[in-house]
Amino acid sequence: MRFFARTTCALAALVTSTSLALAADVEVLHWWTSGGEAGALNVLKQDLEAQGIGWQDMPVAGGGGTQAMTVLRARVTSGNPPSAVQLLGFDITDWAREGALANLNPVAEAGGWDAVVPEALQKFSKYDGEWIAVPVNIHSTNWVWANKPLLDELGIAEPTTWDELVAAMQKVKDAGKIAVAHGGQPWQDATIFDAVAMSTGGPEFYQKAFIDLDTETLGSDTMKQVFDRMTVIRGFVDDNFSGRDWNLASAMVINGEAAFQFMGDWAKGEFLNAGKVPGTDFLCFRFPGTQDQVTFNTDQFAVFKQGDSVTPEQTAFAEAIMSPEFQIAFNKVKGSVPARTDVSVESFDACGQKAYEELKAASASGNLFGSNAHGHANPASVKNALYDVITAQFNGEYDSATAVEEMVSAVELSQ
Ligand code: GAL
Repeated sequence: MRFFARTTCALAALVTSTSLALAADVEVLHWWTSGGEAGALNVLKQDLEAQGIGWQDMPVAGGGGTQAMTVLRARVTSGNPPSAVQLLGFDITDWAREGALANLNPVAEAGGWDAVVPEALQKFSKYDGEWIAVPVNIHSTNWVWANKPLLDELGIAEPTTWDELVAAMQKVKDAGKIAVAHGGQPWQDATIFDAVAMSTGGPEFYQKAFIDLDTETLGSDTMKQVFDRMTVIRGFVDDNFSGRDWNLASAMVINGEAAFQFMGDWAKGEFLNAGKVPGTDFLCFRFPGTQDQVTFNTDQFAVFKQGDSVTPEQTAFAEAIMSPEFQIAFNKVKGSVPARTDVSVESFDACGQKAYEELKAASASGNLFGSNAHGHANPASVKNALYDVITAQFNGEYDSATAVEEMVSAVELSQ
């Protein structure tokens, strides 16, 4: 099969050099448009180009993929789906249920994917026994990114508890700097909320509230405390946070304007892209109070049906993504870790190695949870309902008690 796939690639190479070039392209819809993301995407493009697979780019800017999902829906509705699409968690399952995704079992069997892709990812890569998506990475979302020289200058040690974090943010503010670089977009508010909820209520609370959607937990005093803490964080962002893209928030930490960003490890891609070195220029540590937990998401590429069978280019695309060498090269740039259990992360930087170790430990101890903000806790209908409440509260439309009530009813209505 491996030989067959190679032959297919060679054929595809021939085709791209003829006037039929487009026939051998893969059209890839994605939202990787920031500097770090584009750098990682280039690793994939180049890998495919080396195999003679042309790349038709379909970027839809907008972190977290909110806008990309709207464009995808329009493309599929008009009968013209892209050949490959970046998808998150339950969105994959939703598209599979609609029958839009191609069955990748032959390439998955040939590559032995069952044995090397972590269970937590396979939950989203497979539907009804069929492989319908290829995981390219594992991100985790409960990170803090900090400007090290600024912390040193202000005498701030890495905060390990909520109280220490508040004290650190206050110190930064008192020094006339921005404590928290944040972009006021629903998915970014929700990313912080994931971490604050895990830190405040612990893993059982997170599980019951955002995965089991237990009404009592959603309406609990602990949830009110989570919202109270969101209000505290709101007091440490600058006046221009509204609508700001996440990578511009990362840039504020990179250039020393701000001390902290609470963001998934795609932020590391921005630091690396700016030539910054972990441990020297910036620090990566878990959101205080979540040191033993990991909230994760995984970007997967689903292959949308173009006809009755998977095209050779789609097969080559899927195979290329799962290659161990590619997973290492790509994830070093992206800030994530490989979506395979059989590769070494020895060549990763300190943050990457830490991410991988903590992921393994969290998985072994039952502390690995899908990120709600990034579509791995619940389907989009529930996720978006939660986004609305989280963002409204962050912007002062609801007080904490009202937000708790709104959350309970929003979740109920969304199911
Ligand atoms: C996440 C995605 C990451 C990163 C981020 C910001 O949902 O998994 O790969 O791109 O959005 O766009």
